[in-house]
Formats: sequence, C-alpha cells, structure tokens
Amino acid sequence: MKLKYFLTSIICLFTLNSFAQTDLPTDYLSSDFHKERREALRASMPENSVAVFFANPVRNRANDVDYVYHQDPNFYYLTGYNEPNTMLLIFSDDQTEGETMYNEIIYVRKRHPLYEQWTGRRLGVEGVTKMGFEQVFNGEDFEDSSIDFSTFDKVLFKDFKNDVRDSKRDRADLYNLIEQFKVKANYMASESNIPVGDNVVDVSTNIDVTSLRTLMANLREIKTQDELVLLKKAVEISAVGQIEIMKAMHPNMSEAEIQGVHEFVYKKYGAEYEGYPSIVGVGNNGCILHYTENTKMNAGKEMILMDLGAEYHGYTADVTRTIPANGKFNTEQRAIYDLVYAAQEVGIAETVVGSDMSKVDKVGRDIINQGLIDLGIIETADEGRKYFPHGTSHHIGLDVHDLSNRGELKENMVITVEPGIYIPEGSDCDEKWWGIAVRIEDDILVTASGPINLSEMAPRHADEIEAMMKEASILNAFHLPTLD
Ligand code: GLY
Ligand code: MN
Ligand code: MN
Repeated sequence: MKLKYFLTSIICLFTLNSFAQTDLPTDYLSSDFHKERREALRASMPENSVAVFFANPVRNRANDVDYVYHQDPNFYYLTGYNEPNTMLLIFSDDQTEGETMYNEIIYVRKRHPLYEQWTGRRLGVEGVTKMGFEQVFNGEDFEDSSIDFSTFDKVLFKDFKNDVRDSKRDRADLYNLIEQFKVKANYMASESNIPVGDNVVDVSTNIDVTSLRTLMANLREIKTQDELVLLKKAVEISAVGQIEIMKAMHPNMSEAEIQGVHEFVYKKYGAEYEGYPSIVGVGNNGCILHYTENTKMNAGKEMILMDLGAEYHGYTADVTRTIPANGKFNTEQRAIYDLVYAAQEVGIAETVVGSDMSKVDKVGRDIINQGLIDLGIIETADEGRKYFPHGTSHHIGLDVHDLSNRGELKENMVITVEPGIYIPEGSDCDEKWWGIAVRIEDDILVTASGPINLSEMAPRHADEIEAMMKEASILNAFHLPTLD
C-alpha cells in the first residue's frame, strides 16, 4: 500500500470514529419490529413475487441547500433505515444463489469519509447488517447484480413520479437505482407506455404498480403495540403544546409566535419534526384549511385555529384546537364552537369496531347541517358542504394522512375526528358570522371496549378552554429585548 493512501485511510478512520454517536434516545422501534413487519408483508405477497421499495428522493430547497431529509414511510416501516439513495427487495419465496439462501436484499448508501464530514453519518454495509439484514450491498453493486426480474410472476412497486434528480457525482444515487431497475425489470414509466404509431413499447407483463399500496395499507392501518407507544407519545406532546399556548396566549401574539411555542414544546420532548407544516390561522385565515403562511402579527379578539402535530420517531399526531385570543368566546364564536363540538362528540362515539369513517362523518355532518340551518346560516342541508368542506376522519401513523384501505374500523386503528365550520369573509350569510373558523381535531384509538381519545389532555369543551386560558404561563416572564 502506498504510504500516502495508508495515511489517508488512517485519518479517515480517525475522523469517522470521532463522529461516533453517544447519548441517544433509547425508545426507537427495534430491528425485530422492522424484521417482523417484513415477514408480515412477505406472508401477504402473491406467490413467486418480489416487492421493490425505494428511499424518498432528496429535495432541493434552493441553490446548494436541500430540505431536511425525510425517509419514505413504507421504507422506514420495513427497515428503520433513514438514509436516502437506497433500495429494498423483498421476495415472497426463498431465493438461492450457490450455497446462499435469502429472501430479502438491501442496497445501502456507501460510506464516504469526506461526505460524512460535511453532511452526516452513514451506516454503510456494516451498520445496516447490524440492523438484522443479511444481504446488504452498496448501491453501486445493484447494476452488476444478477437478479432476473422476468422470472417472477409479479414485480410489485409504487410507480415513479419523475421528480428524482440525477447527481452526476454519484452513480449509485436514487436516480441511477431507479433507472437500472427499470431496465432490469423491462419497465417504462407509465406515461411512456402509450404506443405511438409503430413504436409500441414492450413492457413486461409481470409489472404491478397498484397492489403494493393495498398490501402496505393492510399492515400499516393497524398499529402494533410498539407503534402505539410512539404514536401516543407524539399525540401527548402535541396536546401539551396546545395547553401551553392556551396558558400563554394574549391578543398581541403573532401567528408565528404561537407556532413557535408549539414547536418549542415538541423539541423539548424530543420530537424530531412537525408531521406536516404547522397551521396557525387567526380569524379569517383559519378558513384556509391548510393555511401555513402564519404571518399575521396580532391575534386581537379573534379566534385562532391551531392544527399542529409533533412527529416522534416517525409517528405523527394531528391535533387541532380553536381558541379565542382574549380568553373568552363571544356569542357568535361560541355558537359555532359548540356546534362543532357537538358534531365531534357524536363522531368520537361512532369511532368503534365495525363502524367506518363515512359513518363517523355522517353523524357529525348531520348535526352541523341542522345547526347551521337553526342559526340561519344556510337554508337546506345541501348547502352544509359550503361551510364544512372536508371529510371528518383519516388514519394517522407514519404519515399524517396514513395509508388505509378505508374499510371497517378495527381494533388498534387510530383515526382523527375533526369536524369544522369555516365562514370566510364575504360569505352569503349575516356579516356577524364572517371570519369565524373552528376545527376541533382529536386522535382516537379504536379498541374492543370503545374509543380512546389520545389527545384528551388538551382541553376541548369551550368552558374548559376558557378555564385553561386563565392559568399562568411561565412564558409570560419570557421577555426579549426590542430590536430596531
Ligand atoms: N392537519 C391536516 C389534517 O388535519 O388533515
Ligand atoms: Mn387531520
Ligand atoms: Mn389536522
């Protein structure tokens, strides 16, 4: 070995070791959990099939800055591996190559001392082997692999979205893995499958880009006990965020400041991210269902709709509270609030084994429609959708709108119950209702003995909210200097 190369290797090893992680959270999902999930998927796959999963793409924010990386939830569920530019193959049946028998292969990101110094640690083949995989290769090895996709009755994967960048410096990035897979599996992206004149594209008939979603939804829509521990934690953290803001709220608070208090609470409890961009809408802004600008300066006397969820070790909550900035609902605010509350109460009661999300929606929607008629805001129930334009429920989990097959509710499913009424300025009703927006959203665990409201800790009834808003907050003593 040349001396220069030898010295470089020593320096690299030294550098890598100096990055070793200590003092980490101890409550991540275990390798056994992910392995067992792969077994469960394998058991549900058609005979002689292979399922192919790719990591999420890296997304560019601007120039040379990328968004914080987030793994594809299916990939995370099956592996626990959080790095980009990786690929997983799960075989329904044992494969043999020489003496070796295997039923899964993972292609991982190769270790690279220089990149690791700049952009973070990589587990590499050795690290991923410790996660319970036996067939672990660097991504660059996929091109030369002898996998013959034509021998399978089904090649299952999720179709590609054409939003993956090719890094010219990396011949094993996601772009290359996908391109090599397409060639090996004789697959053209769906939009290029259209025959043009004589130029008919020959596509393998064993390609299946639809079934994997159903198989994964079957698994992911029912939470295991390990998942419930993390999901409950995410929800409780989010509920504490709502409580702290109720105590700290004052009319001069800005939407951004309110968002900051929630997100500070999340970090304090170790939640890595928000499960979706935080929604903090004062007054009329609350009528934009997924309002994320959060730029209004003073809450004043209006209500604030706060829809935020902590993401804890991958699992995201989705909790909404709507509160009056000055601590007291006025007559119109209270009327609309109580109506949404009544709809939510019946919706939660309907969140039971054997029911389904459309029934949960219907019971609450009927109450809202009748209530809006009684208040003179609409004349017939058909008009209700104008002011309650979204569904009541979705599953939560690794995605805020989690995978589901939308069938009967079963034990250990977790869904939101989130009715709302939104009356934008200029609506076709008395002006006194304009700018009122209320959503109340809780995360409900379906159990054999009835619904359990995981976000119950955050006050929900209007009287409870007003009482909580009277409590002192330590944030009131948090004075910062005025800047020019
Ligand atoms: N936070 C998005 C939703 O409630 O569906
Ligand atoms: Mn929701
Ligand atoms: Mn929400």
